[in-house]
Amino acid sequence: MEQNEIRLDFNFMMKEQIGEDSGIDPGDIDFHSDAVKAIHEELTSKRKSGELPFFDLPYQDTSRIKSIAKDISNSFDNFLLIGIGGSALGPLSIHNALHPPFYNQLPAGNGKGRPRLYFLDNVDPDETTALLEVLDLKKTVIVVITKSGGTAETIASFLVLKEAIKKATGKIDPSQVIAITDPDKGDLLKIAKQNGYRTLEIPSGVGGRFSVLTPVGLLSAAVSGINIDEMLAGAGLMDKRCSNQDIWQNPAYMKGTLEYMFHTRQGRNISVMMAYSEALGSIIEWFVQLWAESLGKKYGIDGRTIFTGQTPVKAIGATDQHSQLQLYMEGPHDKTITFLRVNKFNTTVTIPEDFTDMEEISYLGGHTLNELILAEQKATEVVLARTGRPSCRIDIPAITPSVIGQLFYLFEVQTAFAGGLYKINPFDQPGVEEGKKLTFGMMGRKGFEEKRREVEGIGKDSRFVI
Ligand code: PA5
Repeated sequence: MEQNEIRLDFNFMMKEQIGEDSGIDPGDIDFHSDAVKAIHEELTSKRKSGELPFFDLPYQDTSRIKSIAKDISNSFDNFLLIGIGGSALGPLSIHNALHPPFYNQLPAGNGKGRPRLYFLDNVDPDETTALLEVLDLKKTVIVVITKSGGTAETIASFLVLKEAIKKATGKIDPSQVIAITDPDKGDLLKIAKQNGYRTLEIPSGVGGRFSVLTPVGLLSAAVSGINIDEMLAGAGLMDKRCSNQDIWQNPAYMKGTLEYMFHTRQGRNISVMMAYSEALGSIIEWFVQLWAESLGKKYGIDGRTIFTGQTPVKAIGATDQHSQLQLYMEGPHDKTITFLRVNKFNTTVTIPEDFTDMEEISYLGGHTLNELILAEQKATEVVLARTGRPSCRIDIPAITPSVIGQLFYLFEVQTAFAGGLYKINPFDQPGVEEGKKLTFGMMGRKGFEEKRREVEGIGKDSRFVI
């Protein structure tokens, strides 16, 4: 095990630790070995045939991303990323994990003359207006990301920003817009070609929520000085571990199997991820999309109706110990909990010795916030285990680009593998697509009139509005 590797500790999911009723028997994990082998072989053969290109993203050539990033850093003060779902959550999570809080308030971004980073991943008019008020549009590069090329929210925000820049500067310089999209098709690609915008590719077979290690996540990271090679190397490290057919050596297969068993055998249909770190909050949001959209499915691959999927929930320790934890300790037995524990923070904060005559306060003096947050994590997992509540933890040596790459890759393989256990397609999202079509209809896009009628045809009864 290398020093900067993350580890999966699932002690408190096992029956030896948390009891017969709630824990998993190691023998039952072995019972799944035929399924594990079959899914492993299917994923490996699809990887070989190029059907699942997300697997090979750690080994891509990043020279064009770096060269565009360098050019952006030299030319602009602000970097505005426009995207939604998989086209925004990945880059946001890298930013929040690897940059200090209040990054944009530091002089010139991170103080090394790099652009400030802004993310627009919603179409809330007040947020957009507020953003336009603070951005110096002449010095802003707009990076529009949409895999499909036509997502209404992303295109709408792009049109608003484009118009605002035109108003502010008289014209748009093509170098001010970068499009990240499918290499062969879609409206954004067409627009980019027509207007001479630079483009970066999301490989055709890589879907939105599996695209964080493409230019989707890597461009903003490189622009802001994050070592993207180290991040990809971390993903590669995890690839080695997750290519092992032996479930006892493969953290992605083990985690996917445990969640699947808790869900299907014990009805634990909620999967809470709780980070004892503010920096990792956005990675949980990214994971929530990955787990929810990949596994939440009406149909199995055999066409049967199954309505499956675990509901992922985000929590932050220690804050949510004072909010959600009561439910996790004493509420229904319908959850698993995954802790993200950071063993070494970037800084150390010592709690001053004060009020030395008050025992209730003075015990804290001389300790550090680092000790306190780690103690809280440990206490929470122990107290949950004592009441038969299964949890596991991912031990993170420190938050580095390598670790972030490892986490992305681990969760992606875990999700792809879990799709095999549930016998569903984890790479499609028919529900999301239907929502997009209904939006097109409501906004009057040609060809989607029927969708508009579907929405407008649903009447509401005034008795039920009070
Ligand atoms: O994972 C997915 O495919 C989706 O969640 C997309 O990321 C999201 O809908 C945005 O799509 P697009 O990148 O095509 O604009």
